Amino acid sequence: SGPEVAALVAGASIDVPDFPKPGVVFKDLMPLFADGAVFRRVVDAIVAYHGAGSFDVVAGVEARGFVVAAAVAYATGAGVVPIRKAGKLPRKALSASYALEYGEATLEVHEDAFVAGHRVLVVDDVLATGGTAAAALELVERGGGEVCGFTVLLELGFLHGREKLSPRTVHALLTV
Ligand code: PRP
Repeated sequence: SGPEVAALVAGASIDVPDFPKPGVVFKDLMPLFADGAVFRRVVDAIVAYHGAGSFDVVAGVEARGFVVAAAVAYATGAGVVPIRKAGKLPRKALSASYALEYGEATLEVHEDAFVAGHRVLVVDDVLATGGTAAAALELVERGGGEVCGFTVLLELGFLHGREKLSPRTVHALLTV
């Protein structure tokens, strides 16, 4: 159930103070990926929420989103499209930049990564300020895919990333 899966996510994440910089509490979900039973429950919950067959492709955001995307895709027979940090892709790519506290970051996807009209489920591990997610969703749409859902394992509600994505909706297994 939803509360059970939320408790699993809470129990399998570790708060790391002052990473990557002083004052930030980093939510490390690597222990969740490392626990096979928990990881399977989490992936199954994502599939159950959206429904197997409701998406053609799962787009995952570098780097931890790749882990989630590959598992959800394999479980449902969907494909995977990696949305990468700038400069990693070998062929012509679309780029979307977003503001960080200091400076900016850029995500990229191959311009032919999405088949026109394909339903794309976008996944990542954490939704924080929402800048990453907004850029990822923009890239899917510019690439010709149809965003049919956005799921994260953990949403940091106090950073209001969800508002940045409005009117799109966010599915979070756990919101803190
Ligand atoms: C983290 C996380 C999300 C993003 C969320 O990735 O996995 O992708 O930050 O932050 P935002 O909502 O404030 O944009 P990170 O930049 O640490 O990249 P990594 O997974 O490659 O380490």
